[in-house]
Amino acid sequence: MNIVLVGMQWGDEGKGKIIDILSQKVDYIVRYQGGNNAGHTVVVGRKQYIFHLIPSGILHPGKICCIGNGVVIDPAVLLGELDDLRKNGIDFSRRFKISSLAHLIMPYHKNLDQLREAKRKNKIGTTGRGIGPCYADKINRCGIRMTDLLNPDVFRDKLKDNLKEKNEIFKKVYQHSGFSFKKIYMEYLRYGELFAPYICNTAVLLNKAIDGKKDILLEGAQGTFLDIDFGTYPFVTSSSTISGGACIGTGISPDKINKVIGVCKAYTTRVGEGPFPTEFTEDFGKIMRDKGNEFGATTGRPRRCGWFDAVMAKESVMLNGISELAIMKMDVLDGLAQVKICTSYKYKGKIFKEFPCDLEVLSKATAVYKQMAGWPRESNQPSSFKQLHPNARAYLLELQKLLGVRITIVSIGSARRDTIFI
Ligand code: IMO
Ligand code: MG
Repeated sequence: MNIVLVGMQWGDEGKGKIIDILSQKVDYIVRYQGGNNAGHTVVVGRKQYIFHLIPSGILHPGKICCIGNGVVIDPAVLLGELDDLRKNGIDFSRRFKISSLAHLIMPYHKNLDQLREAKRKNKIGTTGRGIGPCYADKINRCGIRMTDLLNPDVFRDKLKDNLKEKNEIFKKVYQHSGFSFKKIYMEYLRYGELFAPYICNTAVLLNKAIDGKKDILLEGAQGTFLDIDFGTYPFVTSSSTISGGACIGTGISPDKINKVIGVCKAYTTRVGEGPFPTEFTEDFGKIMRDKGNEFGATTGRPRRCGWFDAVMAKESVMLNGISELAIMKMDVLDGLAQVKICTSYKYKGKIFKEFPCDLEVLSKATAVYKQMAGWPRESNQPSSFKQLHPNARAYLLELQKLLGVRITIVSIGSARRDTIFI
């Protein structure tokens, strides 16, 4: 069984926790897009791990973890993550693989990301990790890939070509002194040597695994509304975050995907700029942010918080082909007198039941809510759906009804045991 797991909102849905749980049941775990803009948190006992590049399944002994061709890799960050694993006694040497076709984030990508943001009037609020410029070079056909680091001659030519153009742009447009060929060349060749044991044709590896009846979990990063096509463009990331991206980013064909699981919070959050129709007012937003500890796992930025948006979530079910839902951080809504679910938007007297393409509508629309009674904080940790407060159950059943998809997991805390399976 090959499963794709996607975020249904603007990222940070709690994908790391669900991937960690599902990893037990599969043989391979694969990242297929994004880069170290992602921050996937996994809590094991008292220890918290945050993964930016390595699949969150790596904590399970014996599971093979791959970084697919669709991911953009900052080699210094990857090296740091591998070192952390070593320090924690996690052996990955024979079960970690990197696609030879994955593109590399170069020092100039990071600088360009930050310089561009600084110059823009309409800021995106990127993570500043060089993600956009790296994907832009990929599409522009001047990117540098993992495999290039294993061939010093090819790498030299590609880097020279890039720096010739980029250094001029840096100097003339951004008054930046530019980059030294030698420094980057030596640094990246060294990465090539260190990563060589893991670099391979992951498309072949994964398809052979499928032929051998192995199970694969495809780990999405970011969320549906950060998708380069279907998200709230231009306030999006630069990759295809939806389930279709899993095929492009791994070389697994669509007919081999058996199931798509969607992960969403019981409310909504967003980091960075862009429209957010159900955003809380400032005061209530702060209370909920503290309650849910809503601070970015990558940049530490405070996350914006709001009510559950069923218009978005429904669109997400459609775009991804979701057939099962994991609802996260349900416990953060405990103790509220009332909870709300957005069922449509209203703009200039018109009701929108579908997610609008026009950024103006989305930015200025007011959310139309269904109000429901809240529930108290449970003194005993509920361990089944039945043990949840009736109002909490009613809320979940309403989400299920609105989205037309089964909820199979409800998370009520960050630990593995704080999970209800339905
Ligand atoms: P995970 O995988 C939440 C947001 C950034 C910014 C926009 C573009 O942890 O859910 P980028 O650096 O990608 O060019 O920034 O996308 N963003 C995320 N928000 N979770 C993420 O990843 C994100 N990755 C990028 O805040 O608004
Ligand atoms: Mg995150």
